[in-house]
Amino acid sequence: MKGIILAGGSGTRLFPATKGISKQLLPIYDKPLFFYPLSVLMLAGIRDILLITTLEDQSNFKRFLGDGSDFGINIDYIIQPSPDGLAQAFILGKDFIGDEEVCLILGDNIYYGNELVKLLNSGVSSASEDNKATIFGYYVDDPERYGVIEFDSYGKVASIQEKPTKAKSNYAVTGLYFYPNNVLEKAAKVKPSNRGELEITTLNNMYLEEGSLNVEIMGRGFTWLDTGTPESMLEASTFVEAIEKRQGLKVACLEEVAYEMGYISKSHLLHLAKKIGNQNYNQYLNQLAKQRHEK
Ligand code: DAU
Repeated sequence: MKGIILAGGSGTRLFPATKGISKQLLPIYDKPLFFYPLSVLMLAGIRDILLITTLEDQSNFKRFLGDGSDFGINIDYIIQPSPDGLAQAFILGKDFIGDEEVCLILGDNIYYGNELVKLLNSGVSSASEDNKATIFGYYVDDPERYGVIEFDSYGKVASIQEKPTKAKSNYAVTGLYFYPNNVLEKAAKVKPSNRGELEITTLNNMYLEEGSLNVEIMGRGFTWLDTGTPESMLEASTFVEAIEKRQGLKVACLEEVAYEMGYISKSHLLHLAKKIGNQNYNQYLNQLAKQRHEK
């Protein structure tokens, strides 16, 4: 399975903070925002990843990741000339995806919870074994800001509506999507919506109509944060800080995930640690190498 991180967009809701830099490069506590979704793809076992960015910031993303080999992954880059909608990721990424399944994650979404890997694995296997798409529903207080899931009286998913004025439920569709390879044909058929975007919701409704959409609910023990406003950026930073301080364990530490997943060796982890000027981070990686066994 291939992975795509959509990290373009104009970031206007965060102006002026994003006037000179993409939102996904801004820090959430101790690391850039896009590390969080990247770590999710890595935890799903996905090692071929396409990073879709703006023209202006592509080189900045490259400075963080290069070709990905430091983390035992392959990173490709492509530019989205203008933010024409999430479903455009599959049009831009067609050659990269080739004949494989694909997972798309938004570059500004944060996921945290101990069932995460289980949920990710179910998305991977539904796409590759059952030819089905998987999306995730999360109960929120302000569903109108999102794609919203409507359930019928039997609790079955009836439709998905993009930012409805009156939401039919409190379940928002999160920014993590698994698709079989036929997403390429379907994405090519998506027409721009009233707001002029190629909506991912149109794509998800196509799967729903043909009976091949799984909707997994992320329960209340699970945290999904999107970072669409200055307040939610701050809340996300505070959340990560609280977890990291309490446990002494990092969230979305790419070196740690790469090591835990067996993508890099202990000697490479130690080599990465040496290159890091931040003493706390350096010590954290050295501790990891000491305490945990190589897989
Ligand atoms: O966060 C989940 C929500 O994401 C879903 O519930 C909605 O169904 C989905 O449409 C999307 O809604 P948003 O309003 O959050 O989308 P937004 O336009 O903010 O874009 C999400 C991220 O993707 C943002 O960081 C910018 C980036 N983006 C967006 C567009 C439209 C791109 O890189 N390219 C684009 O063309």
